[in-house]
Amino acid sequence: MAPVLRLDRISWSVGGADIISEVSLDVREGELLAVIGPNGAGKTSLFNLVSGLTRPTGGSVRLDGHDVTALPPHRRSRRGIGRTFQSSSVFSTMTVAEHVELAARSAGVRRVGADDVRGVLARVRLAGRGADLAAGLSHGDRRKLELAMLLAPTLGGGTTGARLMLLDEPMAGVAAEETGELTGLIRSLHRDEGRTVLLVEHHMDVVLGLADRVAVMHHGRLLAAASPAEVMADATVQQAYLGDEL
Ligand SMILES: Nc1ncnc2c1ncn2[C@@H]1O[C@H](COP(=O)(O)OP(=O)(O)OP(=O)(O)O)[C@@H](O)[C@H]1O
Ligand SMILES: [Mg+2]
Repeated sequence: MAPVLRLDRISWSVGGADIISEVSLDVREGELLAVIGPNGAGKTSLFNLVSGLTRPTGGSVRLDGHDVTALPPHRRSRRGIGRTFQSSSVFSTMTVAEHVELAARSAGVRRVGADDVRGVLARVRLAGRGADLAAGLSHGDRRKLELAMLLAPTLGGGTTGARLMLLDEPMAGVAAEETGELTGLIRSLHRDEGRTVLLVEHHMDVVLGLADRVAVMHHGRLLAAASPAEVMADATVQQAYLGDEL
């Protein structure tokens, strides 16, 4: 079976700087792969190449065996890639329910039923919050709303929402007491629903609690991709974090 995602020697240079250099990586159906690495390692840039926000200057991106390197983000999203951003991206003047409707409409769903919206909100543990303004949500609840938007395309259609979720630091800005529930939600989207997840995360306790496999980025290169235990024991990985001298 072809991997859900195959990156083949993918590179991205901008203004003469090599930001991503020849990264090759296969992501298997249903796995949760954490992407870690120091600040500036290229984690977000890698997500941009997968979601289509930027085009690689070398190499290819395959989704379910099909070359999607030339496809724009909305075409990739219709093939099942969903993405959240490092900075929370909710609209403060819109309600929680309106966000889910917006996500469903931009995925091509014409009629968005109130019951469907409620169902998606209940799924992310935001039941009863549909009429609230997104501006009034805690950081943790905003992050849940962003996940709800990835599930929204289920509404009224045959699709099930994003099959491959790219989550860029979903715990960023979230209060310590809210991270447990958010971690449980991500685990359940992965384990109970079989979604494939790529997760950029700095909190190592979250990474070790969730990941089937860990990929380590450093200076735009993939240093290692292995089990959490193997990666933690790897001397070059430790050096990447401690010394930055490789
Ligand atoms: N559009 C761009 N133009 C020029 N340089 C860029 C651009 N986007 C990213 N970079 C540079 O590429 C490198 C990798 O950035 P990136 O945001 O991918 O890192 P990151 O691993 O996500 O870091 P963080 O943990 O801080 O989020 C950084 O040095 C950054 O300054
Ligand atoms: Mg980043």
